Amino acid sequence: MNGWLRVVGLGPGSDGLITPEAQATIADATDVVGYLPYVARVPDRPGLVKHASDNRVELERAQHALELAAAGRWVVVVSSGDPGVFAMAAAVFEAMEDRPDWQALDVAVLPGISAMFAAAAQIGAPLGHDFCAINLSDNLKPWDVIERRLRLAVEADFAIAFYNPRSVSRPEGFRRTLEVLREACGDDRPVMFARAVTTPEEEIRTVGLQEATPEMADMRTVVIVGSSRTRRVGRHVYTPRHAL
Ligand SMILES: C[S@@+](CC[C@H](N)C(=O)[O-])C[C@H]1O[C@@H](n2cnc3c(N)ncnc32)[C@H](O)[C@@H]1O
Repeated sequence: MNGWLRVVGLGPGSDGLITPEAQATIADATDVVGYLPYVARVPDRPGLVKHASDNRVELERAQHALELAAAGRWVVVVSSGDPGVFAMAAAVFEAMEDRPDWQALDVAVLPGISAMFAAAAQIGAPLGHDFCAINLSDNLKPWDVIERRLRLAVEADFAIAFYNPRSVSRPEGFRRTLEVLREACGDDRPVMFARAVTTPEEEIRTVGLQEATPEMADMRTVVIVGSSRTRRVGRHVYTPRHAL
């Protein structure tokens, strides 16, 4: 039997936001590979082998999944949200780079609903015009690259979605991000903190840039900062689709 590998997004948390395509693929799989809390979201069933690992071993995890598929297993690699957004799809392709045998395997990526889209929908339409996403973790890139992208994103007047804003081991980055934003934006604008979106712990809060504090974010939060055009309408926040 030929093996296959699918990189699947489980969405932001709620089972209702896992696509039917992802659900059907997980139902066919013999093996699930991923970071422990995401693997735990897949229900146990007879014949399904779960391979859960720590967060920092993405490349090894991808290599393991490809080895399983090469051995004829039907493998699902799970990520939260969308697997192509700061997640496992890129790690799988990186693992395949020097391996023509793995490049010949049946590999595909199945999309999911990324945290920024679930958060934006709860808030209104803050990403309704041009926007970008920046990962604030400096595990895989130096801080000066992050800060340069942040300043250019403000200059280009994008709304910005920040992933991995703040962790216990990285308390400083988001504090610095807020300082740079206050300096570069030159005005007040909505800052939306969306925590644990679509889970029972969901908390959504919109404040002005001047009121925002580092403690409002943690690793379960996606932070959206509006462009100069983003504004409130009733209890919602949106960015109009025209630039001026
Ligand atoms: C490694 S990234 C994975 C992103 C994921 N692939 C996606 O498309 O949403 C993890 C970060 O995603 C954000 N995130 C994931 N799920 C979330 C949720 N339910 N609510 C808010 N933010 C979430 C947080 O910023 C978290 O630190």
